Amino acid sequence: MSSPPGLSVPFSGTELLLAAATFCLVLWAVRAGRPRVPRGQQSPPGPWGWPLLGHALSLGRAPHETLARLSQRYGPVLQVRLGLTPVLVLGGPHAIRQALVRQADAFKGRPALHTFSLVADGQSLTFSPDSGPVWAARRRLAQSALRGFSGAADPGAACSRLETHVAREAEALAARFLALTEGPGRFDPHRSLLVSVTNVICAICFGRRYDHEDQELLGLIDLGNEFGESAASGNLADFLPILRLLPNRALSRFREINRRFHDFVQQILREHYRTFEKGHIRDVTDSLIEHCQDRKLDENANLQLPDEKIISVVMDLFGAGFDTVTTALSWSLLYLVTHPDVQEKIHRELDAVVGRARRPRLSDRPQLPYLEAFILETFRHSSFVPFTIPHSTTRDTTLNGFYIPKGTCVFVNQWQVNHDPELWGDPGAFRPERFLGSEGRVDRALAEQVLLFGLGRRRCVGEGLARAELFLFLALLLHRLGLRVAAGARVDARPLYGLTMKLARCPYYQAWPRA
Ligand code: HEM
Repeated sequence: MSSPPGLSVPFSGTELLLAAATFCLVLWAVRAGRPRVPRGQQSPPGPWGWPLLGHALSLGRAPHETLARLSQRYGPVLQVRLGLTPVLVLGGPHAIRQALVRQADAFKGRPALHTFSLVADGQSLTFSPDSGPVWAARRRLAQSALRGFSGAADPGAACSRLETHVAREAEALAARFLALTEGPGRFDPHRSLLVSVTNVICAICFGRRYDHEDQELLGLIDLGNEFGESAASGNLADFLPILRLLPNRALSRFREINRRFHDFVQQILREHYRTFEKGHIRDVTDSLIEHCQDRKLDENANLQLPDEKIISVVMDLFGAGFDTVTTALSWSLLYLVTHPDVQEKIHRELDAVVGRARRPRLSDRPQLPYLEAFILETFRHSSFVPFTIPHSTTRDTTLNGFYIPKGTCVFVNQWQVNHDPELWGDPGAFRPERFLGSEGRVDRALAEQVLLFGLGRRRCVGEGLARAELFLFLALLLHRLGLRVAAGARVDARPLYGLTMKLARCPYYQAWPRA
């Protein structure tokens, strides 16, 4: 078809028709993706987004900071669109508590994201979309198995199993740091921390530890970084399905990581089944096998779980147990070397309370408030888990007067709460003293405001263990040695975004022995 004389239109009629049809299709898709809001109610506010893409390309390299900036403009409850999916973003402490604690059941779901379906073959307690009675029963099982194998071995025991495991690993870690300083003269602490922390969770879950040079373990745990990059809130592959159809290296790696992790745990499970002895329960895995064999009913739900759903709980505990605590320790070490005055106060407190004749114990914790304040400030300032794992709504609800339909994907911005100027005054400063009350005790009410383990029904299962483990590692290490970076070296404190935010590797650490 040609254009009439005098009018030079560069498109043919067919092309124009096609363009109009595509436009209508996009418009329809965008409108269909938008939730239907009942008369008289309104959706949360949010910025205008591109057709089909929404805000997918504007989250940038630090989505927690981008969304916190949007929250200043639109309020603590706002909505963005990633691809065609509306995402509710919660940023203010009150809105988050209202959703996760007061409306806990409505906000306890997990969205059915593509990356999540690749974790543990879609059976993960943590990442699968199940939030019903089976999830609740598995969560109780995880909590009780973890308590059983991190608490006291028997009622008369002098210290908990966790304490025994951490004391052994911290001792080996300190010796390694000192040897590396004496030998090559400096070291990168990352891998040593990773092996030590992994050994603690391996001891609890599988009753074994690995050597610092064990290639099998190193190959596996080094993948933790890449796991966190893909499982982070706002991964575009979850919201732009086309990215799954095109060649996608990150996604292929994520599949591979999950497969290797699965194979590693399966091999340990096979060994456990082979050597299992009733009446001689060695670790979390044995306790789960016993649970399967006894065909115990979950009293709360009158429910019997299939064996795979029971056993795979150990994968969630192991998977969550090494990367998170290692990252917490890496950030702690960074603050210790960049704030030598803070490190010196911890040293003085340890000397005054514990002395040099014995090692620190978990029971010293209430008497070491400065160390406790240091850990809280590390959590707050780094906010190294910037978002909780995404939630979703299990029914239609309202929040802050806005209508939120069932099935809405929810991002909870923990970083924003921990950097709220109204709450903290000077959020950018690293100041453990902010947590100490007038008598030098930890201000519990303020400590509760730090948000790193989530809240409500999905609150971290390993929180108690993680806090105790971190305290013990730091107390034992700092009792034994001091840390600094080599003269003239600089450390990079910029976080690398992910499910847990990592630091760039720094090979300039040095340790010195304390008398
Ligand atoms: C400093 C260390 C840790 C931090 C900061 C941390 C933080 C978190 C966060 C933010 C969540 C998601 C909460 C939500 O979605 O609302 C979570 C979930 C979880 N964490 Fe942790 N975690 C840590 C250590 C651990 C450890 C040591 C374990 C187990 C050994 C563990 C086991 C879990 C499990 C099983 C879940 C899933 C709970 C569910 O979906 O019901 N975590 N954690």
